[in-house]
Amino acid sequence: MKGQIFSGAQPTGNLHLGNYLGAIKQWVALQEEYDCIFCIVDMHAITITQNADELRHNTREIAATYIAAGIDPKKNIIYNQSMVKQHAELAWILGCNTPMGWLSRMTQFKDKAGKNRDNAMLGLFSYPVLMAADILLFNTSHVPVGEDQKQHLELAREIATSFNHHYKTEAFVVPEPLIKQEAARVMSLRDGTEKMSKSAESDLSRINLSDDAETIAKKFKKAKADMEFDGIFYDKEKRPEISNLLTIYAALADISIRQAATQFAKSGNGDFKQSVADLAVEKLSPITNEVKHLMNDVAYLDSILKDGAEKAAEKAEKNLKTIKDIIGFVYF
Ligand code: TYM
Repeated sequence: MKGQIFSGAQPTGNLHLGNYLGAIKQWVALQEEYDCIFCIVDMHAITITQNADELRHNTREIAATYIAAGIDPKKNIIYNQSMVKQHAELAWILGCNTPMGWLSRMTQFKDKAGKNRDNAMLGLFSYPVLMAADILLFNTSHVPVGEDQKQHLELAREIATSFNHHYKTEAFVVPEPLIKQEAARVMSLRDGTEKMSKSAESDLSRINLSDDAETIAKKFKKAKADMEFDGIFYDKEKRPEISNLLTIYAALADISIRQAATQFAKSGNGDFKQSVADLAVEKLSPITNEVKHLMNDVAYLDSILKDGAEKAAEKAEKNLKTIKDIIGFVYF
């Protein structure tokens, strides 16, 4: 039997190069080997305030991006989370089996809530429980994500293990993370020690998948780079920005960082940045163009989401019934 993959992205704005290299590009390769479910996690998105029209637009745009990047909607399940109510049901059950102390350790909550913890929403705090529910709902064996999701995944494993132990069952499959080491953490173009993120203030810090060729070229040209060394080499401590650009180049070209470093060993920063920009445009523009094309056909995108949601709900309901039985819920 094939393994089961589950992964997702939040429709909170443009996807960026980090999302693509850390997650989506990996998904495209995995669809040959695994049964795959790729979700647009709109219920996660509302842990921070969203505008309704933008949320709707972003949900469809992410579906379009999955497809444009090469995920085949005929072979894989693509849907938005809120269409499958079993996510919320299982999240409640798991929440009753998750100590608050485990959630208090989550660094993403600490970062997002900041000093104002008492005013942070309950949903932001319990978000990793919903993420565990997403994964455990489908007997997921593998979860391909970027490194920033590692702690949440470890928590999902802990929740599955402790539930199984408590109820003396093996009902939940304990999922394995799939974190592709080289592009697991794409960094900001303005500061090589910060991760590339949707929420960073400067748009120059990230390459959005919706950026046109000119914008991509401009952003790489303006990317921060050190001046004190000759040639290009990888050293994350001394040269975080150049090392990040090497990582990006290698991931886009499907070569190792070592190979990329050899290729540019004698180049100057300017030429090297130009090569990264050219490759990024070459690889990303077909995706960007296809997203635009697909966004003109909302009816098609919605039909994919609806079909995906029906298939996901059927699987989810079957698995949830097993869990309800174990807990002692009466259902008909
Ligand atoms: P999200 O929407 O923040 O990001 C989607 C995916 O992109 C990866 N990623 C990165 N990878 C490399 N470098 C970066 N700079 C970078 N930034 C983001 C993320 O690791 C992720 O794989 N909680 C998740 C969504 C989620 C999920 C799930 C994932 C909800 N339920 C169940 C897997 C399984 C999130 O906020 O991803």
